[in-house]
Amino acid sequence: MSRSAHPAGPRHADVLPEGHYAAPPADLNTLDPKVWAQTVTRTADGVVSVGGIDVKALAEEFGTPAYFVDEADFRARARAWRTAFGQDADVFYAGKAFLSRAIVRWLHEEGLNLDVCSGGELATALSAGMPADRIAFHGNNKSTDEIHRAIEAGVGRIVLDSFQEIVRVAHIAQSLGKRQKVQIRVTVGVEAHTHEFIATAHEDQKFGIPLAGGQAAEAVRRALKLDGLELIGVHSHIGSQIFDTSGFEVAAHRVVGLLKEIRDEHGVELPEIDLGGGLGIAYTSDDDPREPHEIAKALTEIVNRECESAKLRTPRISVEPGRAIVGPTAFTLYEVGTTKPLDGLRTYVSVDGGMSDNIRTALYDAEYSVALVSRTSDAEPMLARVVGKHCESGDIVVKDAFLPADLAPGDLIAVPATGAYCRSMASNYNHVLRPPVVAVNEGEARVIVRRETEEDLLRLDVG
Ligand code: LLP
Repeated sequence: MSRSAHPAGPRHADVLPEGHYAAPPADLNTLDPKVWAQTVTRTADGVVSVGGIDVKALAEEFGTPAYFVDEADFRARARAWRTAFGQDADVFYAGKAFLSRAIVRWLHEEGLNLDVCSGGELATALSAGMPADRIAFHGNNKSTDEIHRAIEAGVGRIVLDSFQEIVRVAHIAQSLGKRQKVQIRVTVGVEAHTHEFIATAHEDQKFGIPLAGGQAAEAVRRALKLDGLELIGVHSHIGSQIFDTSGFEVAAHRVVGLLKEIRDEHGVELPEIDLGGGLGIAYTSDDDPREPHEIAKALTEIVNRECESAKLRTPRISVEPGRAIVGPTAFTLYEVGTTKPLDGLRTYVSVDGGMSDNIRTALYDAEYSVALVSRTSDAEPMLARVVGKHCESGDIVVKDAFLPADLAPGDLIAVPATGAYCRSMASNYNHVLRPPVVAVNEGEARVIVRRETEEDLLRLDVG
């Protein structure tokens, strides 16, 4: 875009961003339903509301920063995944995206299963009443204690991630007099089109056992021999924030190839195949995620086709969406503390949170949207960068954003699509307190994870 075409004038024209924020949107007051939770709307007086409650009232009652989750939206998305995959498949919500006891109850009520990857997630799930047999336990280095607890609790499956773990789980199961259902996680050698840190199916990384060189086949051989294990299937997770299903197609092809090898060598047809999670969501208006029913149709067709050509009975499919369920259902509400216009550059907008409540921008260069939500404005768009309050210049929440030029301290701004991997990756950097998560539904709001206090911090500090 040329300098003169930029409506904010020369003051902000020197460093224009690329992509989504290359040009300001036609109307800064309009909320794109793609990136906001379902019940989010701007009310007649210009204030944004969620679940029937406006953000000024929410800020008054719960403070800022805070995450607000639209319960109806969460339930609708969970249900949409469940319905899309039907009775012949299982949907395991990936708890790492965001987990709390309320979330576990919602999942249970909506008929979903749960993927946990640590003793802490397991404890949360069990304490909120998720039946253990609907839990899958993941991780590349589960501790002996975690494995012991999981087997004792009766988890539905443990996903094995290494040769050592195959033996470890078998021994622990036997010592408890049990036969544990397990899957083997394989790496299929697919390069997923996503950030390097969240791609997981190429071979040079810590997860899974490579299909290449017959390693996965050897893992199956060993697992089948051990009395403590009941091998029920093979697992593959290719990465996260993925929009096209071609990676899943290759993964399914290769995993079914392994199932065929297993049948030919051992005369066993494994009954299950798990294709992991990783489906992308819209963080900005440029992102076009696919609907659960399209994904279900595509994945089911791929697996059916591959099995037919391999003359295998079609295994039961499971998937593990995390972000695609919880991500779009929440936003983070911040109060503007300062605005700092830098001539020829942009305006730095400092909010009362930052990289401690959303590390994704700093860690993955993630893009987010942002809007002024406590009022409307007819002011010109200004090129802005939303930053936090931490002692670090990389403390950026939204790298490139257009906000109204009259933005001022005390205004409330909100960043949508922060339901996944924000509270769950939150930290206490600079001893900043982690924000609460508030569920809003049909005119009622309730805290589901409370705000951290200085007493919480000091309680851990026992020196
Ligand atoms: N299943 C397995 C085995 C996984 O490792 C993951 C994510 C999922 C399912 C869920 O993926 P989802 O559908 O949520 O993309 N912190 C990163 C994402 C790391 C994901 C790790 N595993 C982020 O903020 O983007």
